[in-house]
Amino acid sequence: MDKIVAANWKMNKSISQSEKFVRKLKKVDVRNNVIIFPSFIALPAVSQILEKERCGAQDSFYESSGAHTGEVSPEMIKEVADYVIIGHSERRAKGETNEILNKKVKACSAAGLKIIFCVGEKEGEDSHAVVKKQIIEGLKGTDALTDFVIIAYEPVWAIGTGKTPETDEIMEAVKYIKSLYSCEVLYGGSVNGENAEEILKICDGVLVGSASLDFQSFLKIARS
Ligand code: 13P
Repeated sequence: MDKIVAANWKMNKSISQSEKFVRKLKKVDVRNNVIIFPSFIALPAVSQILEKERCGAQDSFYESSGAHTGEVSPEMIKEVADYVIIGHSERRAKGETNEILNKKVKACSAAGLKIIFCVGEKEGEDSHAVVKKQIIEGLKGTDALTDFVIIAYEPVWAIGTGKTPETDEIMEAVKYIKSLYSCEVLYGGSVNGENAEEILKICDGVLVGSASLDFQSFLKIARS
């Protein structure tokens, strides 16, 4: 079965660099279900090249419109993309609480977006306790929306560090998350062309940061 291979480009790639990457991607065969999350500013251009169902935004606000300078609404995103990442640890670190994230999840699912909801512990924290609280509070009242929700398990200590949990630890975390919330579960944190194949065997997909920026290294993951 196809797995999800999601590329979170974070604050990288200009509009023209993003276009160049997805033009190349369109020309090659990949086995897995690839979804690209460019910057907001590059998203419309990327969406014109790839289909909407292969595009996502890295965040969304929870209101549809109004006096919210700098924010982008779920309805605006839905014009160009089918996916959105909510609750990435880099945004949680800037003060996004589970309560805010819960509003975002509800607003995005109401707009018809599929949500990749990120959870994960920091170094030294109890993984189960952290993940449970993030899921219970962040996904509160969304049990009827499980078709719209995908959870990405991203231990904060594994992001951008080259360190990953052992395979059986990822397997255990995926199983635990599925016991709390019935949905697909991805793994994210230092996924690369070398470890992707093994990780993809034990979860429903991967959320890739730095290794998704280079075309050849991303292609290797997408073909794993
Ligand atoms: P890295 O792949 O760079 O560790 O980043 C993971 C991530 O944060 C994806 O959302």
